[in-house]
Amino acid sequence: MGIGVTSGEADAWSDRFEQGLNPFIEEFNASIGFDITLLHEDLDASIAHAHMLGDCGVITLQESKELEGGLEQIRDEFLEGKFNPNLTDEDVHFAVERRLINLLGNLGKKLHTGRSRNDQVGTDLRLWLRRKIDEIDIEIERLQKALFLKSESNLYTLIPGYTHLQRAQPISLAHHLLAYIEMLQRDRDRLQDTRRRVNHSPLGAAALAGTSVPIDRLKTASQLGFEKIYSNSLDAVSDRDFAVEFSGASALVMVHLSRLSEEIILWASEEFSFVRLTDRCATGSSLMPQKKNPDVPELVRGKSGRVFGHLQGLLTMMKGLPLAYNKDFQEDKEALFDVVHTLKTCLKAMSILIEEGLEFCPERLALAVASDFSNATDVADYLVQKGVPFREAYQLVGRLVKQCLSQGNLLRDLSLDQWKALHPSFEEDLLEKLTPVKVVSARISEGGTGFDRVEEQLQLWRSRLVLTTQ
Ligand code: ARG
Repeated sequence: MGIGVTSGEADAWSDRFEQGLNPFIEEFNASIGFDITLLHEDLDASIAHAHMLGDCGVITLQESKELEGGLEQIRDEFLEGKFNPNLTDEDVHFAVERRLINLLGNLGKKLHTGRSRNDQVGTDLRLWLRRKIDEIDIEIERLQKALFLKSESNLYTLIPGYTHLQRAQPISLAHHLLAYIEMLQRDRDRLQDTRRRVNHSPLGAAALAGTSVPIDRLKTASQLGFEKIYSNSLDAVSDRDFAVEFSGASALVMVHLSRLSEEIILWASEEFSFVRLTDRCATGSSLMPQKKNPDVPELVRGKSGRVFGHLQGLLTMMKGLPLAYNKDFQEDKEALFDVVHTLKTCLKAMSILIEEGLEFCPERLALAVASDFSNATDVADYLVQKGVPFREAYQLVGRLVKQCLSQGNLLRDLSLDQWKALHPSFEEDLLEKLTPVKVVSARISEGGTGFDRVEEQLQLWRSRLVLTTQ
């Protein structure tokens, strides 16, 4: 039998309870196995609460000082590995309170004045998530920087651009990589947006209805760095939409990482051979000595499913809950903890992969862009410039491609006479316009892959990302 925080004598609640919990139910009910993750936030919020109780005259200033000291001592004990809650504590909130009562006796019992575990857990979770969003932002920026450095050194490296995974038009490799930097920037913006809504304090909403104790919610909110307080006490303790929103934003980051992973896996295949995996991030096969496997992007692609699953889990957990707090909410934690852990580790792994795990193969890329029909649009555009309607030009080039395919030729193999025989508007200058470099340079519309345009984008990102290596 353990010693519960509420009675101090038996593992029961108020004197209303006469029997102890069934041991299996005790374990089933407990969250201490995972919510110990929130210990620092629980201590921070409790310190702010104790401070405010003193300031408001609910307890004496001396008492609030002693409570704060006791809470700091628990932090020290934890850091020294001496704070070891057990199942009878049920959760991190009870574990801290139990230890405080051990340390301070009756004074420890005053801490819970004017609050409930319902507003307490909501406060802890928001403080924790706010910190994690800031850490994730740093990880996303690191990946953007890694992609930027690869972009910068590959402005003039060409790579086939695809639609439907069919060769479409050649593009600058920098342009391709910058597309991911853009996606990641939107991810950062979304997370910052979420952070604004995470940063509201529910503390002082108490169980659901507020409290008759003369507390000051603004004081605790400002000590904890919250931007504002929830205006409605029921909403304050029932809201987990911030967790859903965060998981949604995280799911999109994972979508982006997964798409990048998929491309790297394809590029590293024998068939593409656009990149070589270095030994830093690739593994071998236990059986086939020639193999080098792209485990890192495969794992990232695979782990995206966990994050999507947690998002679905949170939505389903919340959808039918009546106001206000329900124990179902306890299920939010493991989901959220795993989303954060998965996201942070995948971001870090992808950064390392880009930084030191792969090398582009310029010779293979050059061969790829020179040996296809991805300049066909440019022939049509040439005719358009000479006044031929686009549809007519499009049909003509289509016929031409068909003819070349049957003869095993590329467009560049045709002589000027052959071109002229097809249409009188073709002149000498056509031939040089069809080289991959010229084809790419010509795409000068805003946001296009023309080198000048991509250079502009590189300049922009160079200043936005504040690259210390420059
Ligand atoms: N461990 C609980 C949770 O994570 C803390 C809040 C408990 N509140 C309650 N009324 N039982 O949600």
